[in-house]
Amino acid sequence: MAADNDFSGPDPTPADLIAARPPFSYHAMDGLLLEGVALNAIADSLGTPTWVYAAGVMRARYRALAAALAGLAAIHYAVKANDHLAVLRLFASLGAGADVVSGGELARARRAGIAPGRIIFSGVGKTAAELRCALAAGIGQINVESAEELAMLSAIASDMGREAPVVLRVNPDIDAKTHPKITTGLRGNKFGIPFDAVPALYAEAARLPGLRPLGLAVHIGSQITEAGPYRAALTRLAGLVRDLRATGLPVTRLDCGGGLGIAYRDEAALAPAVLAGVLRATLGGLDLDLVIEPGRWLVGPAGVLLASVVLVKNAAPRPFVVLDAAMNDLLRPALYEAWHGIVPLAAKDAKAPPIAVDIVGPVCESGDSFATDRPLPPLVPGSRVAILEAGAYGAVMSSTYNARPLAAAAMIDGAQWAVIRPRQREDDLWRGESVPPFIEASG
Ligand code: LLP
Repeated sequence: MAADNDFSGPDPTPADLIAARPPFSYHAMDGLLLEGVALNAIADSLGTPTWVYAAGVMRARYRALAAALAGLAAIHYAVKANDHLAVLRLFASLGAGADVVSGGELARARRAGIAPGRIIFSGVGKTAAELRCALAAGIGQINVESAEELAMLSAIASDMGREAPVVLRVNPDIDAKTHPKITTGLRGNKFGIPFDAVPALYAEAARLPGLRPLGLAVHIGSQITEAGPYRAALTRLAGLVRDLRATGLPVTRLDCGGGLGIAYRDEAALAPAVLAGVLRATLGGLDLDLVIEPGRWLVGPAGVLLASVVLVKNAAPRPFVVLDAAMNDLLRPALYEAWHGIVPLAAKDAKAPPIAVDIVGPVCESGDSFATDRPLPPLVPGSRVAILEAGAYGAVMSSTYNARPLAAAAMIDGAQWAVIRPRQREDDLWRGESVPPFIEASG
């Protein structure tokens, strides 16, 4: 992922951003439409900040990916990108499996109707309780990330009289050429088993009780926009598959991970057909069951965060436009200097000549900024904006920092829309908290 300052050339204007995103359009009276629904109508009804997800966009993206991978690889949606039940149910209905990284995500995926046999459990620190729960459910695949975890899983599965379907996650020591905080396949990263240690550990997995080794997994990072890192990693994995098979070990499955990038600004995102080409070229002759675990690519472009301008603070070198959304809602700009498009909801605003502003939230941190030196039409208190590409790693990374209730969420499908999560109420903020008697009595 590129930080703000990694881009060259002027920032695209709101008109440029909307022109490049077919699900969006401006209506002279109603303002910005997503799939034909006026985002102003949703903001009028629910207030702001509010997440809005377009089911049609998610469906179209899933179908495009599935078509490119038909007969080649199965899609297991990475639940962490957007774990709303409505999103999970949508992908389940389209035939997706799931990739989960915690007991909570496993429970969500099951609650949304995804069969346990279609669920993959990834993650570097699964607890014994989570592994037990996954085995009891009859999970389809457990991606083991260390020798220590392999021993733990063998003991638990044996104790339960189960056979755990195991895949070893390999750290291929390949640079995904993305933001350092979301690079996962380098030697120094905490993820996966060092490449050279895999053959011995795979043999160990075949020997240990309670384990059924199926194959290997790799995930080198997220927001990958070039084919090269995939090609390099999968070429290494193909070699490993051949080496393991040469020693008589069965390898039937290869989980290629997620990571497909999207266009936040004007990046050239990786097309599904390009990924399919890389899978064919690197793994084509190996007779493997292939799996991918995309998250961002499926949901990122399908979501926006609606916000209103609280006030415009006159300042040098640029005015601060203070929104009612903040880093507690959408953390990506603060955490990764991620660039998100910001467009006004009013059609006449989108046409006005832009001026350079800083767009910030009201949270008490200087890092609570959505954009710096961004060309936007003049905004006034009450003006509404949509922050684009907020469908992935948006609501799932929200917090109630500064005692700010979690934002509402709505889903659009064609001409209809529905609330899928009401705004958190103020008294929900302290629900479950108690003041112990010794504090009540003191003072
Ligand atoms: N599989 C594994 C094992 C993963 O760790 C991840 C993401 C995925 C699949 C899905 O990756 P995707 O297709 O979404 O790139 N919060 C960061 C992204 C963190 C990604 C973590 N792992 C962000 O907002 O950019």
